[in-house]
Amino acid sequence: MTEQERLMQCFAYVKGRISSKPKIALVLGSGLGRFASQIEVQETLSYNEIPNFPVSTVEGHEGRFVFGICDGVPVAVMQGRVHMYEGYTPQEAVLPIRLLHLLGAEILFLTNAAGGIQAGMQAGEFMLITDQISSFVPSPLRGANMDALGVRFPDMSKIYSERLNQIIRKIAVNGDIPLKEGVYLQTAGPAYESPAEIRMFRTLGADAVGMSTAIEAIAARHCGMEICGVSCISNLAAGISPHPLTHEEVKEAGDKAAPQFTLLVRSAIAEMGKLV
Ligand code: HPA
Repeated sequence: MTEQERLMQCFAYVKGRISSKPKIALVLGSGLGRFASQIEVQETLSYNEIPNFPVSTVEGHEGRFVFGICDGVPVAVMQGRVHMYEGYTPQEAVLPIRLLHLLGAEILFLTNAAGGIQAGMQAGEFMLITDQISSFVPSPLRGANMDALGVRFPDMSKIYSERLNQIIRKIAVNGDIPLKEGVYLQTAGPAYESPAEIRMFRTLGADAVGMSTAIEAIAARHCGMEICGVSCISNLAAGISPHPLTHEEVKEAGDKAAPQFTLLVRSAIAEMGKLV
């Protein structure tokens, strides 16, 4: 089966299982999955119910779609994502994103936990993603182009939407939520970085580092979705942090950030709903 056939098979299955038509898709990162409780749920669908769908195996990632209404806006939420470090190809890791596009989502709101590199950053803060570096992971667009989704050589000069960023900035100011801005760099993981790698990434212009998101954003731009992204800085990156990094620390930071994260994302979705 080709990747395109696999995508179309997953799409046909999900389409047959749900009645809602999402306008905005939201991907919830490590420790941020509880946001799904904000939604008037219409349907939920575990990834393992969908034949041939990549399943998330990470602790702290539920692994299901939640379809419903958030402040009047039809949304599709991914409670947990799939990562390359789980053994998936980049093409497999972005299948859910393409599926959300096929289901009708026009806006994609990406969230993640990330290590902070930018000087002055603190754990627990948020960073609005203004651009990204994906050069350390293979492209999710490798292989036969899915012409029905987008062109062979898509432009990536404005991956993150300025009008969506403006909405998020305004909400952060009004809600007194500290919001940094910067460039997200994706590694393949699953090991956290060495201090020398973090020094290199800083030199290259990265402000935060994580193991997801950039390939998802590329796939979403390829198929014409409008994108925004927020990182929860769960820890200071290796060599900046005074102690070794653990997944527990990442999940705990997500728990602590949950109330402000919920406020930021929920208010943003309400505003963004007016655009679609
Ligand atoms: N590095 C990579 N990915 C991460 C980190 C980190 O420090 N924190 C959370 N996800």
